[in-house]
Amino acid sequence: MHTKIFSNLSNLAEAAHILQNGGLVATPTETVYGLAADAMNPEAVANIFKAKGRPSDNPLIVHIADLSVLQELVIDIPDYAYKLIDAFWPGPLTLIFKASDKIPPIVRAGLPTVAIRFPSHLVIQNLITCSGLSLAAPSANTSGKPSPTNAKRVIEDLEGKVEAIIDGGDCSVGLESTVLDITGDIPTILRPGGITFDRLKEVLGNVLIDPALTQLDGNIKPKAPGMKYTHYSPNATVTIVKGPLNKVVDEISRRVQEQKKSGKRVGVLATEETKSLFNCDIVLSVGSSGHLETVANHLFETLRQFDDLKVDIVYSLAFPEEGIGKAIMNRLEKSAGYNIIYK
Ligand code: TXA
Ligand code: MG
Repeated sequence: MHTKIFSNLSNLAEAAHILQNGGLVATPTETVYGLAADAMNPEAVANIFKAKGRPSDNPLIVHIADLSVLQELVIDIPDYAYKLIDAFWPGPLTLIFKASDKIPPIVRAGLPTVAIRFPSHLVIQNLITCSGLSLAAPSANTSGKPSPTNAKRVIEDLEGKVEAIIDGGDCSVGLESTVLDITGDIPTILRPGGITFDRLKEVLGNVLIDPALTQLDGNIKPKAPGMKYTHYSPNATVTIVKGPLNKVVDEISRRVQEQKKSGKRVGVLATEETKSLFNCDIVLSVGSSGHLETVANHLFETLRQFDDLKVDIVYSLAFPEEGIGKAIMNRLEKSAGYNIIYK
């Protein structure tokens, strides 16, 4: 299949037309790029799973750009949902509701619930409005890879597999939306993301975190099916080293030399503050540890840059699990397959 590459808003009508005809369009959002199809067209949605190589038991998020559509897609909206909508929509918060019969089972992987998000990015908002559709859209990467935060990475993964890719530049958040289950008495975070636990707590008072997110042994099944897969992995094997900075630097430098002797290409994922401390040829800075938003913004792109450099092994620093740091560490630990060394 020939994939058309569109720039920003200029080909919006054509992109909307592709979606109306059951085609796939990759589009920027404020979090990461998404791979969109008409959520009400099961065949179009099936093609999303095919293009990504995504397991069929992993449900998709339905994107809307007008609140009045919500009533048709979900049932039993709890009162506190409106507080969340007022505070965070449009934006990087996905809410899990009980699904109405209108949502095709393939979108929700047969679950009785459905994930809904109202993104703030103008391109996807206009695509929704212009097509008159609700758009099912997972991240626009091959399943298992780091999510794409620019069009170049979408093209790498999906060219030839989708009808069109819209290049809207870099995403502003860089990590996916927070997924919050609001079908129970107490709202529960199923995936940490762009909207932090603290901000949700300010609005709601009480918020839980799915215990599967803090249990690394894999004995508890996560409530968001997508969280059980190995994910966000570059081709390189990633190992995180946690502990006081001087010990972490020594340990990583020692391991780098050891691996080099056995002929491996080794890289270090460091920060602006630490990048000069390592005895290693390939050191990539993911941003400043004093500004975790930039780390979140560059994390996936940096992981993909190690692949560009054909690195076999990556050693990474850890980040404080405060604010957006929770989402950063969730993605980093998954990319490492929970391969963590404690010093
Ligand atoms: O920021 C984002 O959320 C991006 C952009 C494109 O909107 N989308 C995204 O979609 O990250 P995806 O498919 O890569 O991740 C969706 C996550 C998965 O972990 C999935 O299991 C979970 O949301 N999810 C979707 N529907 C669900 C449901 N009904 N119940 C529980 N988890 C659900
Ligand atoms: Mg994804």
